[in-house]
Amino acid sequence: MGGSDLEGQIAVVTGGASGIGRAAVEALSAAGAGVVIADRDGDTAQALAAALQAEGRSAHAISLDIAKSTECDHLVADTLARFGRLDILIHSAGVGVERRFLETSDEDWERLISIDLSGSFYCMRAAGRAMSARGYGRIVVLSSTAGVAGGTGRAAYGAAKGGLIMLTKVLAVELAPTGVTVNALAPGAIETELVARMHSAETRTNYTRSIPMDRYGTPAEVAHAALFLASPRASYITGHVLAVDGGFLAAGVINREAATGAPPSPAPTRSTA
Ligand SMILES: NC(=O)c1ccc[n+]([C@@H]2O[C@H](COP(=O)([O-])OP(=O)(O)OC[C@H]3O[C@@H](n4cnc5c(N)ncnc54)[C@H](O)[C@@H]3O)[C@@H](O)[C@H]2O)c1
Repeated sequence: MGGSDLEGQIAVVTGGASGIGRAAVEALSAAGAGVVIADRDGDTAQALAAALQAEGRSAHAISLDIAKSTECDHLVADTLARFGRLDILIHSAGVGVERRFLETSDEDWERLISIDLSGSFYCMRAAGRAMSARGYGRIVVLSSTAGVAGGTGRAAYGAAKGGLIMLTKVLAVELAPTGVTVNALAPGAIETELVARMHSAETRTNYTRSIPMDRYGTPAEVAHAALFLASPRASYITGHVLAVDGGFLAAGVINREAATGAPPSPAPTRSTA
């Protein structure tokens, strides 16, 4: 996608040090936007900002914990003080756990809800306030197919990601008159550090069988979708949940024999990232 309409815009990317957020930082920067890389891993965020600056790009790093409301407010205030504007929030910071409902501990639940749901609320609210006051903005949040379909082992993660979809819709409706759009991405299985930690070998096998495209996605494939929703051209799209999942959510029974001539695979156990 062409990035000229992002030239000179200012984007905050939470979780920008790794995975999907990092790919979004690189794509936004290549499209001419100034980027604020906000991450709990401040050292990696700083190294990425320095690498982009060395290429003549505008980049800044902020270390924060999105589960703390005041740190999200500070992120937005610091961005406005430094750049004078905030056009785009790509909210990618998050954590995952694969644990069956009956084995989910209080600690698992509280960690996932506080980072993936409350942290999203704090960042979206801080950005939404600044953007609506200025009359323009694009908020893109990383939900998941796990927020749409009930995958094995995703009680806490799926509840947080499902809640994030409803936050997206409510904020989209409330901010619609202000020039701010709010959309969510629902990635399927994407090859990142999070998935390397979260997906067991069994999940990986089951998951791949359930994906019509028969492979995991890449962070860049998600970043392309994020950039479209973050661009001025996506001006009439708000409150939408865009699956970036190789057809996972669209699928029912997949008969690979018919498609490829390969022998039939055993019935998959559905799961979601
Ligand atoms: N990878 C997938 O398959 C997949 C699928 C669906 C949704 N997602 C979602 O996409 C987002 C990005 O995932 P990823 O795979 O790129 O993960 P990742 O682990 O590669 O990157 C996540 C980043 O978020 C940061 N982070 C975590 N907790 C934080 C906190 N409390 N405060 C600030 N920063 C924090 C981490 O330091 C890391 O840099 C997550 O919200 C995830 O749930 C990922």
